[in-house]
Amino acid sequence: MITDKPVGVLDSGVGGISILRALVRYLPCENFVFYGDSANAPYGDRSEEEIHELTMNSTSVLLKKDCKAVVLACNTATAAAIKDLRQMYPDIPMIGLEPALKPAVLHKKNSRIIVMATSFTLKSQKYLDLRNRYVDQAEIISLPCPGIVPFVERQETYSPELLAYLHTEFDPYLDKKIDGIVLGCTHFPFVKRAIREVVGPDTILYDSADGVGRQVMRQLESHNLLNTSHVKGTVELLNSKGPEGVELCRKLLYQSI
Ligand code: DGL
Repeated sequence: MITDKPVGVLDSGVGGISILRALVRYLPCENFVFYGDSANAPYGDRSEEEIHELTMNSTSVLLKKDCKAVVLACNTATAAAIKDLRQMYPDIPMIGLEPALKPAVLHKKNSRIIVMATSFTLKSQKYLDLRNRYVDQAEIISLPCPGIVPFVERQETYSPELLAYLHTEFDPYLDKKIDGIVLGCTHFPFVKRAIREVVGPDTILYDSADGVGRQVMRQLESHNLLNTSHVKGTVELLNSKGPEGVELCRKLLYQSI
């Protein structure tokens, strides 16, 4: 049955596991295949052509696994390729990500919000359109943080070096209260503790995981693709780096963040 087929989830590396964690919670009876392209991470400083091609390749890996839907658990890959993927595969729901700016803006009037993401995401038309929708309602600071992904890819989610890096990025903005920080890259939820330590306890951190969980549920429902089984689903982890990458995915899937 088509509903028994897995949902594919991809990322430039291990960051998409922060999304997979939510998907497993929202859709416990679905089977998932996760593909992390850690051998080519980070994507965020590459050209649009390169990110586009890598995303196409990662999607093919998942389609070869006969996935019934694909979640681009990567803001960068979404910005570069989701339009073309939807055109190429009109019968397969493709669910992408964008920084959770809306809930951050709606939470409080006239707030001061930092959107952290990769350089590519923040330059993309997709993000600029999103930002334009809310720019009159909040002070929105776009902050590229290219240095975080390599820390997460080597499982360094809290260290003096990471804290020092975060200080160089955030210190220029700490003179005034930051109401919210949007984690616009799926690697960033894994360094929440370090971010919180640098920005203080009063800033709200927003990520996309719950929003995507609900969105994937709705998409599967509307395409009649929800798995009707009542048995707990399976999770298969694949990584272009091989067993070392798979092992890190496994750790991040089960560690508390
Ligand atoms: N995890 C990806 C995202 O959400 C990007 C990380 C990278 O630069 O590869 O944008």
